Amino acid sequence: MKAVTWQGHRKVSVESVPDPRIEEPTDAVIKVTSTGICGSDLHLYEVLGAYMSSGDVLGHESIGVVEEVGSAVSELVPGDRVVIPFQISCGHCFMCDQGLTTQCETTQVREYGSGAALFGYSKLYGQIPGGQAEYLRVPRADATHVSVPHGPDDARYLYLSDVLPTAWQAVEYAAVPDGGSVTVLGLGPIGDMACRIAAYRGYRVIGVDRVPERLVRVAARGIECIDLTTLDRPLGAIIRDVTGGRGTDSVIDAVGMEAHGSPLAALAQRSSSLLPSAVARKVNDTVGIDRLTAFDTAIDVVRRGGTISLVGVYGGMVDPVPMRILFDKQIQLRMGQANVKRWIGDLLPLLGDDDPLGVESFATHRLPLASAPDAYRMFQQKTDGAVKIVLDPTTEP
Ligand SMILES: NC(=O)c1ccc[n+]([C@@H]2O[C@H](COP(=O)([O-])OP(=O)(O)OC[C@H]3O[C@@H](n4cnc5c(N)ncnc54)[C@H](O)[C@@H]3O)[C@@H](O)[C@H]2O)c1
Ligand SMILES: [Zn+2]
Ligand SMILES: [Zn+2]
Repeated sequence: MKAVTWQGHRKVSVESVPDPRIEEPTDAVIKVTSTGICGSDLHLYEVLGAYMSSGDVLGHESIGVVEEVGSAVSELVPGDRVVIPFQISCGHCFMCDQGLTTQCETTQVREYGSGAALFGYSKLYGQIPGGQAEYLRVPRADATHVSVPHGPDDARYLYLSDVLPTAWQAVEYAAVPDGGSVTVLGLGPIGDMACRIAAYRGYRVIGVDRVPERLVRVAARGIECIDLTTLDRPLGAIIRDVTGGRGTDSVIDAVGMEAHGSPLAALAQRSSSLLPSAVARKVNDTVGIDRLTAFDTAIDVVRRGGTISLVGVYGGMVDPVPMRILFDKQIQLRMGQANVKRWIGDLLPLLGDDDPLGVESFATHRLPLASAPDAYRMFQQKTDGAVKIVLDPTTEP
């Protein structure tokens, strides 16, 4: 089959790889009909190469149809339509029982001290082949799927794999008081969807980014937006001015470890991404550093006693965090990968024909799998208006 493979720093290619097959009785194999490219894939493309091997199949946002099931799979039969959450979970351990599927104790990648195994996400998360491919092997398939009806286009349900539960959890973890306010830093797919969900839930939302078409897209939904490139004062000062001098009740950081505006950390990340991988892994494991601009901004913007929800991924080991300010402002911090299945029951009712979150028109591009190298480049460089790109493995270029 054809699959999108990691080939090195800023290099992906579509290759022929062996078809996945049932390896364990608990596996299923699905034929992928749509698969998204996520901001998290960009970390593999840019800074986390030390944990990748050339040829690794990428992708963790998939929807498709069950092709084959192992002998121990009881919840699925060939022909079922399923969305595959980005994490693999067993559904019956201590963590899964609490809805913490990203911490599943059956699939945790203990060798690297990581939580649940993830599709297409490096050795740190189990080196499981991903879903940017014609077919995907789904381990622990009885728990690792969401059943969806046949009929509506993939666009309606695809985002249950990542964007929707991630943005929903970001808003939940932001703990915005009733009628309160939240600043969302970063308007990529995750920040954009977090704005939509927070606005739908009746909060005052202020979206912040530096990319014009991302700001326009969010503003078009009636959400207040601030363009970082036009500021004459720190963002915190501007937001305090419009919130009675306090700052917003909550802040969602939907940017993460590759924030724009940390030149020294950017240089450190870039240097380590060019080292031989064994050396780079050692460097990352001991001193790995993030660009903390967005997190520092969040600490400034949030009101005293407010909550910061970190949804953007961080990976550093020795990041300099301003403990004095966090402590003095009495800030609550919540973070983590999204526990996809935890939020499906909240989200399914929002995927009706009235489409209150605008999922049907959320993708800016739908491209054949073969266009993946261009798609990754466009998404990373934010050209061609690319915000959300969906690959279609069922069509020829
Ligand atoms: N927690 C989870 O489960 C989970 C799931 C999916 C994605 N993520 C993470 O969420 C983050 C966003 O993902 P995405 O798909 O929206 O990716 P993205 O890279 O398209 O979005 C990031 C946005 O942040 C903006 N930005 C950069 N620096 C900024 C700054 N200093 N202040 C404000 N905005 C800034 C960029 O212009 C971009 O629009 C990534 O870190 C990704 O890894 C986390
Ligand atoms: Zn993702
Ligand atoms: Zn589990």
